[in-house]
Amino acid sequence: MSSMTRPLTVTVTGAAGQIGYALLFRIASGQMFGHDTPVRLRLLEIPQAVRAAEGTAMELEDCAFPLLADVEVTDDVDVAFEDANVAMLVGARPRGAGMERADLLQANGGIFGPQGAAIAANAASDARVVVVGNPANTNALIAASHAEGVPAERFTALTRLDHNRAVAQLANETDATVGSVSGITIWGNHSATQYPDLSHATVGDRPARELVEESWVRDEFIPRVAKRGAEIIEVRGASSAASAANAAIDHVRDWVLGTPGDAWTSAAVVSDGSYGVPEGLISSFPVTSNGGDWKIVPDLDIDAFSRERIDASVAELVAERDAVRELGLLRER
Ligand code: NAD
Ligand code: LMR
Repeated sequence: MSSMTRPLTVTVTGAAGQIGYALLFRIASGQMFGHDTPVRLRLLEIPQAVRAAEGTAMELEDCAFPLLADVEVTDDVDVAFEDANVAMLVGARPRGAGMERADLLQANGGIFGPQGAAIAANAASDARVVVVGNPANTNALIAASHAEGVPAERFTALTRLDHNRAVAQLANETDATVGSVSGITIWGNHSATQYPDLSHATVGDRPARELVEESWVRDEFIPRVAKRGAEIIEVRGASSAASAANAAIDHVRDWVLGTPGDAWTSAAVVSDGSYGVPEGLISSFPVTSNGGDWKIVPDLDIDAFSRERIDASVAELVAERDAVRELGLLRER
């Protein structure tokens, strides 16, 4: 029998939502930290959805997961983030009919500012945060700015779903297995401006660019990956949930346990100025983890096409940052 380590506390916000439902059972069954690490779950919901979250907590109990040490449901942010080692910020305000972009940013600022402050006040000293709720990069920026005393590097946003989508599309096109694809990068924002980049990708031991047409890359691969979220909404009638939960688990697992070998993945992390991305923005990069800290993969060659695409997505992030700053939603630290 393997020896058990101490339980890790995971806070999931928006726990009664569809991503929450696809996420919690996988965390509790050991799919995020492995089969020798017990977990305590703290589920945060708004008051109207607390009862539904309690129903999910009952089902978690009914699974009798050996690794599940405890589940707590609350609508109080301070209780929710108490001792959290990992915070998965899924709950967000969706765009409603007639809502302008500024209204959406404002509504989400009202959620992610207080959550950032509550993380700083209550979470464990090693807390790591991934924002899933959209607009994910800018919500992460807002939360980080309110988390006084917490290193900005601990706040990230999810672009692993985009990364996984890109891997799957390239594998399909080249009739290869997903396991043989590496070196894909998602740059920029988790939005339609993102740049899925396969210029450094390999399939088996061959450069991807030798295996696919340039026209396929520009006219099919890039738009298909960048607009996949909207396509899922159209076809499924609801936004991606199981694949988003799966990507969030991949993100946290690789961050905490480390990326395997010398393979990189994609995550939106705070920029240190690499690749011309303004310092402090939370933008997607190629990253590795040593088991605790993301590191941006250095010194990749960026061709003119990639430069233009990265700059376009980063410009959107700058515009979002400036908009939330103007709305008073960012605390300068
Ligand atoms: P959902 O509407 O099913 O669930 C969201 C839940 O969040 C609801 O139960 C709601 O009550 C809760 N919530 C709202 N405000 C909250 C708050 N202040 N505190 C705690 N909980 C709160 O939505 P979903 O399908 O689970 O998606 C959640 C978010 O994830 C959306 O913003 C969606 O756009 C985003 N998303 C991101 C990615 C990504 O790759 N980054 C992928 C898919 C979806
Ligand atoms: C996705 O990429 O599937 C989502 O971010 C789409 C959305 O707007 O919720």
